[in-house]
Amino acid sequence: MSDYILQMEHITKEFPGVKALDDLTFQVRRGSIHALCGENGAGKSTLMKVLSGVYKAGTFKGKIIYEGEEKKFFKIKDSEKAGIAIIHQELGLAKNLSVIDNIFLGNEIKSNGVINKDEQYRRCDKLLKKVGVDVSPDIMVRKLGTGVQQLIEIAKALNKNTRLLILDEPTSSLTEADADNLLNLICELQKDGITCIYISHKLNEIFHISDMITVLRDGQTIVTKPVSEMDVDKLVAYMVGRALTERFPYVPHKSGEVVLETKGWTVHNPDNADKLLLDDINIYARRGEILGIAGLMGAGRTELAMSFLGALKAKPKGQLYIKGKEFKVKDPNSAIRAGIGYVSEDRKGYGLVLMADLKNNMSLASLDRITKGGILDKNKEIANAKKYILDLRIKTPSMLQKAQNLSGGNQQKVVLAKWLLTQPDILILDEPTRGIDVGSKYEIYQLMNQLVEQGVCIIMISSELPEILGMSDRIYIMYEGKIRGELSKDEATQEKILHYAAGGE
Ligand SMILES: Nc1ncnc2c1ncn2[C@@H]1O[C@H](COP(=O)(O)OP(=O)(O)OP(=O)(O)O)[C@@H](O)[C@H]1O
Ligand SMILES: [Mg+2]
Repeated sequence: MSDYILQMEHITKEFPGVKALDDLTFQVRRGSIHALCGENGAGKSTLMKVLSGVYKAGTFKGKIIYEGEEKKFFKIKDSEKAGIAIIHQELGLAKNLSVIDNIFLGNEIKSNGVINKDEQYRRCDKLLKKVGVDVSPDIMVRKLGTGVQQLIEIAKALNKNTRLLILDEPTSSLTEADADNLLNLICELQKDGITCIYISHKLNEIFHISDMITVLRDGQTIVTKPVSEMDVDKLVAYMVGRALTERFPYVPHKSGEVVLETKGWTVHNPDNADKLLLDDINIYARRGEILGIAGLMGAGRTELAMSFLGALKAKPKGQLYIKGKEFKVKDPNSAIRAGIGYVSEDRKGYGLVLMADLKNNMSLASLDRITKGGILDKNKEIANAKKYILDLRIKTPSMLQKAQNLSGGNQQKVVLAKWLLTQPDILILDEPTRGIDVGSKYEIYQLMNQLVEQGVCIIMISSELPEILGMSDRIYIMYEGKIRGELSKDEATQEKILHYAAGGE
């Protein structure tokens, strides 16, 4: 038996105007955890889609040798049968089915042609134990948190006798604790002999779990090395093609007048009368500062942003002042007119029209700025798109590319451009660098500095403590809908933030 469970040879995959994979070779040792790294648009997800039959045999060039045999997969089912499971960037469970129904969907246990429920429950119990999830098999998936859903996807994969598990940015929307659980599980599965290909932009995770690292750039393999021969600086240099000496380009900012202030800002929870979504929030934000908002997932950070936009079901109580005047929250459009921009954490839900091209997506929130007498100024739209494709280094063959064809990280950059074009006074960034590669992160931070210098007030919601600590002038920490603490740049440490975020006084 060969040492390699997988050998992908001379793989080339083209889309109109894009060579996503360019004569690429990739080999994975049996039983290893193999990290696949590279900038946004490098080709990671495409390579895994080629492997798993999302792109069927014949639509790409090259050979896939799996467990010693050349394979041709024409659909995902084919690769599943061979023992390959892929867990994508987006969650793939049916939200309105129970846990057990999801696990056995299309893979029922039958005796004499009838579904054997008892056996399914027995097997389900075992699988849930294996992945460390303690929920009823009958609970609806939609009632579960993202972290648990992710683990159930893995349980589902294990049920199919998976020998090669592919995870494409599995932790990008998980809490720290859920992410830790997942990483531990992957290491457990390795002990059972399961091989794992792991894609992530979180470098600490990569060094924590992987044995081997492959870096892709522009659809080609740049290097494959054991983790013992890599360090963060080397890895970053391979990814971006140059050394990156500092990660956070912080410059002290000169903050100006208060542009946003809340008094007694409170929102009821429409799903739970006993709990408040936002509880007596009294905060302010100044022109020319980056205000960080830290807290654990579910602390109410996104709800706070949405409440300013009038995007919550429940109506806020209390006062919101924008540029010194009380602002009555109505709907997102009036909030945009009042000077608020919001880059959402959920780019698919709120950020993008996937079927529209990149240039249209960018203009969406600023149509009134580029429309005169009811006519869209096309030249202006094109000039804007050109500028931001360059400034944010968006990887695309043209501004006419549909948003859905961009890689995950590049979609996020388009959403950012869209809001920058509204020239907001107050720009709320919700997890602005989620899914963004290290090189582009740096560029986004620099852009934030530029905006702040021009007098924009940036409110940055982030779960990444290094980013909060590295870029914020001042930090609020939220816990259960309340502001638990406030720290200046000089006072702030990782320990203090975590203390408040866990509910400490
Ligand atoms: N369906 C498609 N149609 C056209 N181009 C595509 C399509 N899918 C991917 N691409 C292009 O192929 C290239 C590789 O994309 P891919 O999604 O594999 O990148 P990635 O390495 O996974 O990036 P990220 O880290 O942002 O997720 C990108 O330039 C992308 O725009
Ligand atoms: Mg990807």
